Amino acid sequence: MKSYFFPFLFLIGITNFLFSQEKLIINTYNRQQTSLNGYWKYIVDPYENGFYNYRYEAFDKQEKPGRAAYFTNSKRKNKSDLIEYDFDKMDSLRVPGDWNTQKEKLFYYEGSTWYKKSFDYIKSESKNRVFVYFEAANYKADVYLNGEKLGTHVGGFTPFNFELTKLLKNEDNFLIVKIDNKREKDAVPTLNTDWWNYGGITRGVKLIETPPNFIEDYFIQLNSEDNEEINISGNLNGVSKNKQKVSVDIPELGITKHFVTNKDGSFSGSIRSKNIKYWSINTPYLYTVNIATTKDAITDQIGFRTIATKGADILLNGESIFLKGISIHEESLSSKGRAHSVNDAKELLQTVKKLGCNYVRLAHYPHNEHMLRLADQMGILVWEENPVYWTISWENQQTYKNANNQLSEVISRDKNRASVIIWSMANETPTSAERYVFLKKLADFTRKKDPTRLISAALEQSNFEGNPLIKTIHDDFANVVDILSFNQYVGWYDGGIEKCKTIKWKIDYDKPVLISEFGAGAKFGLHGDKETRWTEEYQEYLYTETLKMLDQIEQFRGASPWILADFRSPRRVLPEIQDGWNRKGVVSEKGEKKKAFFVLKNYYNNK
Ligand code: GCU
Repeated sequence: MKSYFFPFLFLIGITNFLFSQEKLIINTYNRQQTSLNGYWKYIVDPYENGFYNYRYEAFDKQEKPGRAAYFTNSKRKNKSDLIEYDFDKMDSLRVPGDWNTQKEKLFYYEGSTWYKKSFDYIKSESKNRVFVYFEAANYKADVYLNGEKLGTHVGGFTPFNFELTKLLKNEDNFLIVKIDNKREKDAVPTLNTDWWNYGGITRGVKLIETPPNFIEDYFIQLNSEDNEEINISGNLNGVSKNKQKVSVDIPELGITKHFVTNKDGSFSGSIRSKNIKYWSINTPYLYTVNIATTKDAITDQIGFRTIATKGADILLNGESIFLKGISIHEESLSSKGRAHSVNDAKELLQTVKKLGCNYVRLAHYPHNEHMLRLADQMGILVWEENPVYWTISWENQQTYKNANNQLSEVISRDKNRASVIIWSMANETPTSAERYVFLKKLADFTRKKDPTRLISAALEQSNFEGNPLIKTIHDDFANVVDILSFNQYVGWYDGGIEKCKTIKWKIDYDKPVLISEFGAGAKFGLHGDKETRWTEEYQEYLYTETLKMLDQIEQFRGASPWILADFRSPRRVLPEIQDGWNRKGVVSEKGEKKKAFFVLKNYYNNK
């Protein structure tokens, strides 16, 4: 009897397999670690010849994959052997770093590339465990150690880890990773985006060594309804995690709380203090927090603040604030391609500060962790975004699981960062019943996993009752979010700049309005009159008139204009002006300030 269930069960199996990564280890900064950053050998493999046999069957699904599988790193043993690859004779790519800007021949490459790193490793304690931790790799990673599959991760902007303990040797380990950055309709993001599809191991890789039982995760944040209570929860990883003693110590508050884990290795509770120095924009105070068991100890720097909305106000520690922001893509200002380093983060956020900002929208995907830890130190509020962008496959279960998994990973990684105040579910997604269900599930999941932060999304706006001069939010997800955000381009995609003077906004929600995008393209150094597109004067005039228009919105509580710096996009090909760059930055890709930069800076300085 033909089984109709098999394909269905297979789909569930493959879906679960793809998204059943091991639980994320957080705060790797303060753990025993060995960096694997540096030069890795690589093989470009557009036909995935190292992954599938000639009948297109995956080698790693076979009992004995055979030496043709690249992840076996096979070598010729005698002169008659047939081996058609050799990592050690190949060129190298730097990790972290996208491959597009490292090799001219890979600038437009979208496909699979194999990376190999050889290393020796002696554990400091024989009973310890060892994990490999990837800060991110775009887009799909298949990871192998010494010829054995560790697992697969899908999602180009969130961390993941796999345990190596049982496979690790003292010498000659080889870690092999297949990175596939092909865009796919059912992926997250989908086929169509307005940014460069940088592929590769785009952020750092490190080995983490832990005791047999270790502190895997913790969530320590101020109760958003009670600013004298710090809620604490977390969990251990290991075989004897039940009934383990855990202490959380905040020396400056003179408080140590003791816990005993339950059978799942979890612990939770709270501490109270009337002496908390609250984290804020002007005083970004971070407490040293020590978490320890009898076998493991970890330290973090955590800020305590509340964030909430009340009617149209956004309240930071109970005070209404205006979010003086700018949007950022994750591109380096000094080197080319994907930003990934502390230095990249400093350059970007220092430019943000020079612009007079107290807030950044990290578009359109989770940025590297350095950005969040630096924002914590600099007192910059942050909107983090899941790459649910434009025309996602709303009805595909695997697509939803993928989006949910990526959102879960960024919340796990950044839930202790005071700077993060908003989780964004999506950007400019066409409204439909299926899209509403998809986003509502993500929002419900987010509120359950992290009840301390606000939820938003770049919603859809339209003409009110067909009148082109009255604009409104036309999006049922507006009822779900805490903050109403939307991208509007009156004066660029929607009419000329004079239209800003005639537009009225009709927004019948008692919620804060945050304009997540507005802007215009300008080529740095191109000057002319303010009616001539692509001149700095046109962009400058659009900023001036847009800000006047937005100030008329009663619930207007902030903006993150599009965008800090010009960024690469394959959609932007106008010769002598764009040449593969989206020119809406208020600074050029080299950080050169355009005239609009000063309009925005002046507006914020007088807000
Ligand atoms: C959209 C989108 C951005 C895009 C921008 C533009 O609003 O959110 O990702 O780059 O418009 O057209 O420049």
